[in-house]
Parts: sequence; structure tokens; C-alpha cells
Amino acid sequence: MNIYTLDSEEAFVQTAAGLITALVTSRPRAKLGLATGSTPVGLYAKLVDMHRQGLVSFAGVTTYNLDEYVGLPEQHSESYRTFMNEKLFKHVDISLDQTHVPNGNAADLEQECLRYDRMLEENGPVDLQLLGIGHNGHIGFNEPGNHLIGGTHVVPLKEETRVANARFFDSLDEVPTHAITMGAATIMKSRQILLLIRGADKAEIARQALTGPITTDCPASLLQCHPNVVVLLDEGAGRYF
Ligand code: GLP
Repeated sequence: MNIYTLDSEEAFVQTAAGLITALVTSRPRAKLGLATGSTPVGLYAKLVDMHRQGLVSFAGVTTYNLDEYVGLPEQHSESYRTFMNEKLFKHVDISLDQTHVPNGNAADLEQECLRYDRMLEENGPVDLQLLGIGHNGHIGFNEPGNHLIGGTHVVPLKEETRVANARFFDSLDEVPTHAITMGAATIMKSRQILLLIRGADKAEIARQALTGPITTDCPASLLQCHPNVVVLLDEGAGRYF
């Protein structure tokens, strides 16, 4: 793992954006795996800014998002489809047909998981998978437990994850109880992984994930087995590095 601690927000965002724009420039038909959550918001804003300055084009890029809530209407302000449209897609030159987010409202969720996996199998692997990390070590919505699932699947969200994400909703009751997420094997098939970790509240989980034992109790620890991972930490999250 290549682990870097950046000493300013600007350096953090600039480094992440630099890795993505370098890839997209050298490989205009790149396949990007994308993530949601508060962590990549600054990165997406930077990519939009660079696009507006004519520094990067996403015209040939295809994207695959990690996860989506089950049961939130696609147009809901907190659906991950809305998040991606608002933070990135509608501000750059990517056609929405080239952007993929699991459909958390599919009539048959199991079929939707199979469809997503088939698409990733046929078109993948992704060139770069962007990841954040949950306070409990989850990646995508692969929650800690006694096992991990390889493919895309429906997952009941841990209470701590619903509480952590309640800040985006009016109340905890409104936070969905389930999500669709890419599985651990799909994430591990990415050619490169870019893991972003921000904030002093993530310092301990960063230490566990990056230097602790590889265990399903901390799904992000599995990334230690991947041959090409870049981890960017801000000063708060990088306290132990
Ligand atoms: C969310 C997402 C993850 C994200 C994580 C951390 O629930 N499913 O992909 O990495 O939780 O979110 P944040 O960056 O807001 O701390």
C-alpha cells in the first residue's frame, strides 16, 4: 500500500484529483468505480473545476458506483444516484448512459444484483476504484461481520451506519434499513484502488484497516491484499502514520 498523509485540504483534494485526471487523460475510455459519502465531495468539486478549465474530459469514461440505498426514490435528495448527478455527472461532459448506480428500487433486487455483476464482469474490471471508509471499517456497504460476500448483494445496514448517515436525513427513521453494494471480490478486482480517509474521527479505523490484522471485522483491512492501493489521509486521519 502506498500511504500518504497530506497536510492541507487543498493538497488532499489536489492529489486525489491528479490521480484521476492522469488516468482519464492517458486512458480516455477509462472505467471508474465511484463512491459517495462526505469524503469525496471536495474531490468531485475539484474534478468539476478542472473540467470547466478544460483540463480534463470525461466524454469517453464509464462509471460504476459502489452502492445505493434500497427503497429511496431515485430522485430523493439523498439517493446515491442524485448525489452523483448533483456532485459530478451533470457538471461534466459525461453522458448519463455511461454512468451506473445500482437500482435500489428494482422490483427484483436479487436480479438487479445479478445484472450489476454481469455488467461489471462484461465491461470490467474498473481501472480505478475510489473508496471511502465507514467508522466501523465498511467499504461500500460491506459491513463488518463474520464473513464478506464477493458479488453485488443486498445488505442490512448496521445500526451504527444508519446513525452515521442520519445526518443527511431529517430523522433516523428516514434512513433506509438496506442497501445494494458491490461485494468484496468485485472491489478487489479493480486494477487500482484509491482510498480516501478524512478526519480525526477516522484515525483509529485507518490504523486498524491499514496496519491491523486482515479480518472481516474490518472489511477495509482486506485492501492490504490488493497489489495497487493508494491511500490518502488528511492530517486528522493520519495521526498514526
Ligand atoms: C457511506 C458509504 C461509503 C462511504 C462511507 C463513509 O455509508 N456507503 O461508501 O465511504 O459511508 O462516509 P463518509 O465519507 O461520509 O464518512
